[in-house]
Order: sequence, then structure tokens, then C-alpha cells
Amino acid sequence: MDGRGRGVDFKRGGSLPAPAGRRTPAPWWLRAPGVRNWAFHGPGPGNAGPAGGGAGCSTIAAMSAPLFTNLITPPPAATAPAHERFLHLVRLALAGGQFGKLLLSGPVAVDGDEADVERLTVRAIELRGEPALSFLWRHATRDVTKNHAPAAGLAEIAALLGARFRNAHLHTATEEVQFAVSRKGRETLRVTRVDGGGAEAPAMAAHDKAKHRPLEMAHPVWSALGLTHRVKGEPALVPAMARKWKQINRFVEILSAAVDEAGLAGPVRVADFGSGKGYLTFAVHDWLQAQGLQPRVTGIELRDDMVRLCNAVIDGEQLSGIRFDQGDVRTREAQPLDVMIALHACDIATDHALHVGLESGARIIMSSPCCHKELRPQMTLPAVLRPMLQHGIHLGQEAEMVTDSLRALLLESQGYRTQVFEFIALEHTSKNKMILAVKAQGAAAEALAARRPELLAQIAEIKRFYGLREQRLEQLLAA
Ligand SMILES: C[S@@+](CC[C@H](N)C(=O)[O-])C[C@H]1O[C@@H](n2cnc3c(N)ncnc32)[C@H](O)[C@@H]1O
Repeated sequence: MDGRGRGVDFKRGGSLPAPAGRRTPAPWWLRAPGVRNWAFHGPGPGNAGPAGGGAGCSTIAAMSAPLFTNLITPPPAATAPAHERFLHLVRLALAGGQFGKLLLSGPVAVDGDEADVERLTVRAIELRGEPALSFLWRHATRDVTKNHAPAAGLAEIAALLGARFRNAHLHTATEEVQFAVSRKGRETLRVTRVDGGGAEAPAMAAHDKAKHRPLEMAHPVWSALGLTHRVKGEPALVPAMARKWKQINRFVEILSAAVDEAGLAGPVRVADFGSGKGYLTFAVHDWLQAQGLQPRVTGIELRDDMVRLCNAVIDGEQLSGIRFDQGDVRTREAQPLDVMIALHACDIATDHALHVGLESGARIIMSSPCCHKELRPQMTLPAVLRPMLQHGIHLGQEAEMVTDSLRALLLESQGYRTQVFEFIALEHTSKNKMILAVKAQGAAAEALAARRPELLAQIAEIKRFYGLREQRLEQLLAA
């Protein structure tokens, strides 16, 4: 380490660090998309650490990484050997899109062709649309590259760790994890936070930086919507709107990574259900337009006054490729779509939006749910959970977790690679959970199709466990 970070030693028998409090950014393995429920068992958003600054390049790069979520396995015990815990952190970094690179060094002497190996660098790449691990073997006089499927690559890393190389460094956007084994076989694990995280983030190509640019504050739409005003002649955020600004920027970052993953080319048809005052709808339109993706964006909103306000902004700014319709997502007909988004659509409006997205064949489904009311009154609690869930706050958090878990499983059962994660720090909104689903293609689609019976059985088992009679998305899909 270069002294910028603060180190924590976790020698054999030591334990992984406790989850960070709200004011200290949690380490990446607690923030990794899709892993919070078992990385830190806590049902509600209030129990997980904040999601980091949100708009940092490191997170953008992370979201651009291919999905490695199939690598997730249960965590080893805190007392497990250091090499097991290190491998677990490697899996989490891959699954959470936080993997920068893995460096294996300190080769153990061997005979033959491999005798002059000096080190091995492993990077996460995408090969023909599928995630892969690229191994760069550095010999004294040559480099050799070999690519592996994720599971095979991880198996090879596991075999090499300690046996072929004594040292390993895992670089992530915000932490460095260092594993070493001494000549006497003593293993150590050291985790170091890299201050200013982004400095260590995986490098982004200039092209990617342009793609992930934040929204332009000077765009007249924002002042028309009351997000910005002029301060000394310059556009500035209205202070009360700073959180909304952060949210929509973060949403657009995640969308940009999903657009890459789905390989969308223009024109891109988008529906934003429960569009409200249209902040996100305009943001998505602006970003797609800036990428040359010919947006065809429709905001669908129950409230007529909001629809009129948003359409007046469109007229005032003479925008094309965007419109707002008064409508109810519960009665919305499916029509061809590329992207379905729903930011804080109330309760089962989220299920209806997800359903329209599925029926419309959307390649990307992004939803940040809110006010989970449907399942809570139905839940009949297993005796062992009653002492925990007698507290209303716990019951509410459990109902939320069960609701969103069922939604995620249902999306997977429909052939979508699905992640549930915190998309923004709690201080920006308490409604900070994101369900992101990208329609699987090729081998990934076949793998999900093969898992369908297992996924449906898991859904049935969760419902049976909590005594649930009905869940709206499941009902809509069965109709
Ligand atoms: C919490 S607001 C979110 C607004 C916007 N998406 C945002 O995050 O800034 C929820 C919006 O969903 C709308 N809504 C609720 N139920 C709806 C339904 N069934 N169909 C369409 N819109 C709905 C509400 O009128 C409200 O404007």
C-alpha cells in the first residue's frame, strides 16, 4: 500500500469487519449489488450501509461490468482460513461489479516451462456478450493471455492461491485486499480502504467517460421544472431539489450501464410509469438524446395536472421524442418497448409496471419500488420469527424484502438477469432500493430457462413459509 489507506489486519482466526455505520461508507462487499441480504442480514434499507457517493466514476465503471451474480455463494465463517475468505471477497467483487483487477505474485519455484512465471494479472472482461476472466501470465520474456469462463477462472485462482503464488492483491474501486502466505504456511488477510476511492477505480476509456457524463445543469428543462435557478447568472441547484438531482443522475448512470449490457441501439422506446413531475423522464430523454440513441420516451401518470405541466415544458422547450400521457398503469396495454422504468411507483403500481414491461418485451426493466403494502397484512408468521416480527418496523421491513425478493424471482423466471441493490445513499432518499432486470440473451437465456422450475419452486416455498395467498405480479403473469 502507498500509505493513503487505513489498513485492518485479519489474520487466521480474525473476523471480517463489522458493517459500517450510516456516516461511514460501507465497504464494497456490503454495497455490492444483489448481495446485501446475506452479506449483512438485515431486511430493510435502513440496515445496510449507505451506497457510497452514487455519482462517482468507480461506481459507474462497476455498473458497466458484466454480471457475475452466478458466482455468489454463501459467505465462509469469520474463522475460516484466510484464503477462503479472500476467494469469497473476489467472488463478491465480481458479482457486485467492483472488481478492478487481481494480481498474483511471489511465485513458488517450479520446474519446466512455467519456471520463469513472474506474476499473473486477472481482469473481468466480456467475451461475445458473456462475462469472462482474462488471465495475463507474465513470464520473464513473454506474456501469455488465457480467457476463462467465470467459474473455471475462479477455480483456477483457488488452485493457484498459496500453492503457486504466495501473494495476492485484489483491487476494487474503494478497497484493496491483500492475501499472503508465509513460507511456514501462515496466512494473512489485510483489507485497506483506499481514501478517495475513485482514484483507484478501474480506468474508464474516454468514450465511457463521455457516456457517463452527469446531466447538464444548464439545460433549460431543469429550471422550467424548478430543479435549478440562476445564482449570479449561473445555473445552480435549488437547494431543496439537490437530493432529487442526485437521484436522477444516479438512475441515469445505472441506465447507461444497462443499455451497454443489453446492447441497445436507437431508436430506444422508453415508458416511465408514475412519472410524476417528470424529472426522471426528462433526464432519461436528455441522456439518450446525448448518446444519439433517438429516444421515444413516454411518461405515464395518473394525475392530469402533472401531465399538463410536463407537456407544457415540452412545448416551451420545443423538445421532440418525449411526451406525457394521462393514464393508469393498472390498465395500460402492452406495446413494444425497450426500457421500462418506474421510480417510486406506489405499492402494486410497481407490479403493474413490471408486468407491462415484461408483456412489452422490454430489454431493460428498472424499478425503485415504494410503499410495500400488499403482503404485510397477509403474512402469517412462522413461530420462530414472531419474537422478531412482533415489532412493526421489523414486520414492515420483512414484508418489503419478501415482496421485492418475489418480484426479482419472478423476473428471473421470465428470463431476466435480475439484481436488487441500493442505488443511492440513504441520505438522498429512504426509498433507495433498485430492481434492475436485463433480458438475458444466448447461453444466459438458456441457463435461466433451465432454472425456471427451480425459481418457481422457490417462489412457492417463500409464499408457503409466510402464508402468502397472492402477490400481484405473480397474479398478473398467471392471468
Ligand atoms: C412518488 S411519485 C414518483 C414520481 C416520479 N417517478 C419521481 O420519482 O419523481 C409516484 C407517482 O406515481 C403516480 N401513480 C400512482 N399510481 C399510479 C398508477 N396506477 N398509474 C399511473 N401513475 C400512478 C402518482 O400520481 C405519483 O405521481
